[in-house]
Amino acid sequence: LFAGPSEFVKGVVAMDGLPDPDRLEVCFAGRSNVGKSSLINALTGTKGLARASNTPGRTQEINFFTQGPELYLVDLPGYGYANAPLKVVEKWQRLLKKYLSGRQTLRRAFVLIDARHGVKPVDAEIMKLLDTSAVTFQCVLTKADKVKANDRAKILDQVRAALSKHPAAFPEIVLTSSEKGDGIPTLRSIITHLE
Ligand code: GTP
Ligand code: MG
Repeated sequence: LFAGPSEFVKGVVAMDGLPDPDRLEVCFAGRSNVGKSSLINALTGTKGLARASNTPGRTQEINFFTQGPELYLVDLPGYGYANAPLKVVEKWQRLLKKYLSGRQTLRRAFVLIDARHGVKPVDAEIMKLLDTSAVTFQCVLTKADKVKANDRAKILDQVRAALSKHPAAFPEIVLTSSEKGDGIPTLRSIITHLE
């Protein structure tokens, strides 16, 4: 699935804007600034494909990227940033719910968690939404390069404990660094085997 080029398709703000469900699809959810766009760039090996930025909340649309002819990678807007107007948050939650429960080709959601911080209450909220939407999700720890090897076991235990409360959680946790490339081949392989 990871052969071939990647392209930005479109940014979607409403359900009627979704591209045709004509290929396998996975989406990436996570708090603002956790590294969703960077991870998509690393997976596709295409720098600058998804816009990574230091400004939290930059990605406000559901952004669709193709990877080769058979896969969509979907960059979801980050949640949990301060200063987001309530109206914007509510609109986004409505769209997210519809997308998660109505997208037949969506095979898995990856919930990104900063490897330094572990699972926060807002992450647990999204996991609950995935449970009720019956979308299997898998946890990806990001920015592993910022965590000392000694501290990893503790974070993994915290995340594992959090996942155990969610029926839709896939048990394997993937530790990644988009900066250094750690875990990227593993994640590609997981996605490739989803079919
Ligand atoms: P929103 O679109 O605002 O929700 O953010 P995002 O989740 O898409 O995060 P983004 O990919 O824009 O990354 C946020 C910041 O973290 C950027 O400054 C990235 O360079 C940095 N970053 C992302 N991944 C890594 C990583 O693996 N290691 C390190 N050290 N920095 C990273
Ligand atoms: Mg982004």
